[in-house]
Amino acid sequence: MLTDKTNLLFICLGNICRSPAAQSVMQRIVDDNHLTPYYNMDSAGIGNWHEGQLPDARMRRHGVRRGYDISHIARQFRRSDFSRFDYVIVMDRQNYQTITSMAAKDADRRKVRLLSDWFRRYKGESVVPDPYYGGDADFEWALDLIEDGCGGLLDDLENKRKEAGRK
Ligand code: 4NP
Repeated sequence: MLTDKTNLLFICLGNICRSPAAQSVMQRIVDDNHLTPYYNMDSAGIGNWHEGQLPDARMRRHGVRRGYDISHIARQFRRSDFSRFDYVIVMDRQNYQTITSMAAKDADRRKVRLLSDWFRRYKGESVVPDPYYGGDADFEWALDLIEDGCGGLLDDLENKRKEAGRK
């Protein structure tokens, strides 16, 4: 671990729809489980088109309907993020290709994981599809998948934390 906390970075293409939503959903799950001191999370985009902006109004609106305040200010991923985060969690295969190609060493490459690795209810799905060019149902679907993946991720991380504590 880089710090006492486990540091999680969520990545998507623009950092205005999927990854800021994942950051908020994960923060909520962590807080609801009284685990706030143990986890730190952030999100970033592959592109810089929306840097400095609030998330897409549609994602914010769909998030509010589920009780999430999705208000991360967009920023672009940078190579130095590899040294600041324990997990770099991407939404789709294109993200995976781009981010792993920026890793300078195997240890960094191994930090990159698809959120779908932790899907349980939606085990058959392999990505969180980009809702940007879609409609309401696409934003709802992205949130369904993100909630599923974040729940699975926290269980996995908590198992690891308990394992480490036992040693
Ligand atoms: P995101 O969605 O990757 O989930 O934030 C997108 C947002 C913006 C763009 C593409 C995807 N864009 O091309 O501007």
